[in-house]
Amino acid sequence: MNIIRGDQYNIGHICTRQQCDLGRGDKVAFRWVSSHQERTNYTFSDLDRESNRFANALQLLGFDAGDILFTFLPKTPEQFFSFLGALKFQVICGTLFSNFGDDALLDRLGDAKAKGIVTKKSLLKKITRIKDQLPSLEYIIVTDIEEHQSQDILSYPALVRQASDDFTAPITAPVTPSVLHYTSGSTGKPKGVLHVHHSILHQSRTTSEVLNLTTSDIFWCTADQGWVTGTSYGIIGPWSLGVTQVHYGGGYDAKLWFDLLQNEAVTIWYSAPTALRMLMREDSELYKGYDLGTLRHIFSVGEPLNPEVISWSRATIGKDIYDTWFQTETGGIMITNRPGLEIRPGSMGTPLNGIEPEIIADDGKILGNNQQGNLCLKTGWSSMFVTYLNNESAYNSKIKNGYYYTGDTAVRDDDGFYWFKGRSDDVINTAGHLISPFEVESVLLEIEEIAESGVIGAPDELLYEKVVAFVYLHKQFTWSKELEVKVRLHVSNRASSIATPQEIIIVDSVPKNKSGKIMRRVLKARYLGQDTGDISTLEE
Ligand code: PRX
Repeated sequence: MNIIRGDQYNIGHICTRQQCDLGRGDKVAFRWVSSHQERTNYTFSDLDRESNRFANALQLLGFDAGDILFTFLPKTPEQFFSFLGALKFQVICGTLFSNFGDDALLDRLGDAKAKGIVTKKSLLKKITRIKDQLPSLEYIIVTDIEEHQSQDILSYPALVRQASDDFTAPITAPVTPSVLHYTSGSTGKPKGVLHVHHSILHQSRTTSEVLNLTTSDIFWCTADQGWVTGTSYGIIGPWSLGVTQVHYGGGYDAKLWFDLLQNEAVTIWYSAPTALRMLMREDSELYKGYDLGTLRHIFSVGEPLNPEVISWSRATIGKDIYDTWFQTETGGIMITNRPGLEIRPGSMGTPLNGIEPEIIADDGKILGNNQQGNLCLKTGWSSMFVTYLNNESAYNSKIKNGYYYTGDTAVRDDDGFYWFKGRSDDVINTAGHLISPFEVESVLLEIEEIAESGVIGAPDELLYEKVVAFVYLHKQFTWSKELEVKVRLHVSNRASSIATPQEIIIVDSVPKNKSGKIMRRVLKARYLGQDTGDISTLEE
């Protein structure tokens, strides 16, 4: 289905005004369920008006097309209004996890030279603490204060109260920048993955072709909007097609989640392996008595989906789980299992029509079936990122001979199914969140007792990988329970709670090569009790 009317590619417009023009103004766009279980319905015309107000408020503040605004919010209605309002006005919208700490925020806001940020009172301190290091940051817009606090700390309610609810999005070209997500690599600072309004084509297509959503469905995507799944499939894809969503502001709770699936009559559910494994670990009695008769399909993304979870779902819910594979950079699903096709438990599935993956060796040779190598995608799909902000060289280094190197390794079997094998770099995937070992190592070195640190991801049954830190203390310090608490708190406050090491191992030295690079490969092999391989360049 072509969702583009005339030349209008504007994501904010297509997800709101266009739905009203198609006669869906009174249809519920999202059922909001707060963490306290309060329920509110927002129609497509509510979504249109509220995002218009926000677009007008940005205009009144002096924002211009191409400026960058971040949301730093838990799941709340303002997350959706501000995201779509910014896009309507062609302001680039970046989304940040609300559990990011000071350093994580500073890196991202600083790199993007963000002009504004939308946040909540409870998160405000994190921004005011770093504000003087962010000369470009003019406005902090707070969703739950009634009056402006100062010239730069503004009340969201006060701003939208005085803004008109009428706004017409300018005709927006396919290549106009839209959404910005920061992703972690294994070296250096996080990279800003920039998308353009054109991405809506692929997001919309996969919402219908893979997730199977139609206008009569009720969709629940559990992903936070700080994550690409939360924007591509928690906002853009479903609303481009006029689908009603459930958005839940609370965290994981097996009973509440099942109540929600049943009581909101969810028909399509998109979640992640760690959450599904947590559900699997609960007492099976908990699930007795639920009627999930409306549920048609379950999808998963973000980490390998182990076959046991699919078996559990078949036995407990009576449904398969379709694993989908994509990345921040791809903007939408590329390789996937989907209704109507055979599921091979443990495999990510097959590529969508028009998506052309290859398995390529490090020397550039295209490999055949059953050979492990770099998972690469022929460039050119509509939701492909256009650059890493301020880091064109990192972008260029990932594109070779017309292929985008995803950083994953995989195998294709004789029937064209793809099997995820791992990462070709040191990036850690814990509970579906990519963590940079470099970022955690840097934060650890801020602690005065720590002389050296090396961080790896180690296999974990629940989280897929856990963060393990090897720490070498300055000679005058000794390890203690208090120091351990201090280290954990520091990483949580400066990076994020997700990056906090699950295990801290005190060592006499951290292995480095002759140029001082931490040899995480050696640390990992030692941790796993495996052969450390060639260590001829090792210097401890
Ligand atoms: O390593 C792959 C893993 O998550 C990475 C992408 O992470 P991110 O950019 O944060 O986006 C996550 C949401 C799409 C991939 O390079 N990954 C994602 N989906 C799967 C997966 N690993 C195995 N199986 C998957 N289905």
